[in-house]
Amino acid sequence: MKIISVVGARPNFMKIAPIVEHIKKKRSFQHILVHTGQHYDRKMSKSFFDDLGIPKPDIDLGVGSSTHANQTAQVMVKFEEILFAHQPDLVLVVGDVNSTMACSIVASKLNIPVAHVEAGLRSFDRTMPEEINRLITDSISNILFTTCRDADRNLKKEGVPAKKIFFVGNVMIDTLIKNKKKTASSTVLKTMGLKKQEYVLVTLHRPSNVDNVQSLNNLMDIFANLQKRTKIIFPVHPRTRKQLIEFGCLEKAKALPNLTFTDPLGYLDFLKLMLNCKMVLTDSGGIQEETSFLKIPCLTLRENTERPITTTLGTNYLVGMKKNKIIKIANQILDGKYKKGKAIPYWDGKAAQRIVNVLLQYAKKG
Ligand code: UD1
Repeated sequence: MKIISVVGARPNFMKIAPIVEHIKKKRSFQHILVHTGQHYDRKMSKSFFDDLGIPKPDIDLGVGSSTHANQTAQVMVKFEEILFAHQPDLVLVVGDVNSTMACSIVASKLNIPVAHVEAGLRSFDRTMPEEINRLITDSISNILFTTCRDADRNLKKEGVPAKKIFFVGNVMIDTLIKNKKKTASSTVLKTMGLKKQEYVLVTLHRPSNVDNVQSLNNLMDIFANLQKRTKIIFPVHPRTRKQLIEFGCLEKAKALPNLTFTDPLGYLDFLKLMLNCKMVLTDSGGIQEETSFLKIPCLTLRENTERPITTTLGTNYLVGMKKNKIIKIANQILDGKYKKGKAIPYWDGKAAQRIVNVLLQYAKKG
């Protein structure tokens, strides 16, 4: 069976790594890895291939950044040429970025079956670009791999037949388990002059949080308050950096001695910072999952989450953007009062293996 797997943006890379590793072990598969080029800076892309040992993509579409329609359209046009040329039996997509949706539409229109890894997650907030990507990708996928039972339920409610849904667990956790020990080689704590448990880690990049001045000012107020008590380390996503500059927040940040902005970090350096921090403040989906697995308290600065299991079983608090609420809960956590979390079913390092077993069965059926 010839499989084309697709990656495009940063959170895709840690999801594809264990899948490619397991696919390559099986002689039944011929595999082609396509990178759409949605993310292209070394720090947003190549460094993850290096850290995670992902083979160099066989094909790079080099699409880059643009408006949603433009980026999606460019991926579609270029990916269609690849499908014409290579005629795969299956296209495998991961996550919920624009590249995920674009490539699943193209394959589906050419009647090539689509497998979607991380299907069924729903924030029920259609103002999020990722929610649209998730809904469309799932509605046209033939094999839907889920990370949790609530995703299965969402899909069934939308009319997806049970026989298409495979609860396999979380590939991002496969990658985390595999790479945790390797963080010993990261010198990030030393380089940044940090000691274990003396800092809070922040990541924010959602348009709803960083694309308007009120929200950025609100965040700066939260940092101003918390940095009186703890160091704050904030690796800044390129979108966020642009907005911080545009809205004059970098200047304000300079007045806060305990707040440090850094460039985006590689996988191992970031994981090392996460493993040793007191708490994480984020709006990322993946980090809600990773902190829950690691039992590190996490405040999610969003009104909703497509990963509710991280708040029920995990260590995640959905706190919205209300300044006082965030500061109050953050202080409770800094005082040591927080939920300790429980193990989440099938987040056990074996999700990619399960995915490949399903694909082997699929290949046998022809
Ligand atoms: C994308 C995904 C989002 C994911 C995030 C992780 C969509 C709709 N969004 O958001 O789900 O959580 O990636 O990072 O697919 N830029 C660079 N260098 C890069 C890439 C981007 O400087 O390598 C800058 C560009 O100015 C670009 C902006 O960041 O305009 C945003 O990039 P884009 O890929 O459009 O969306 P993200 O915010 O990264």
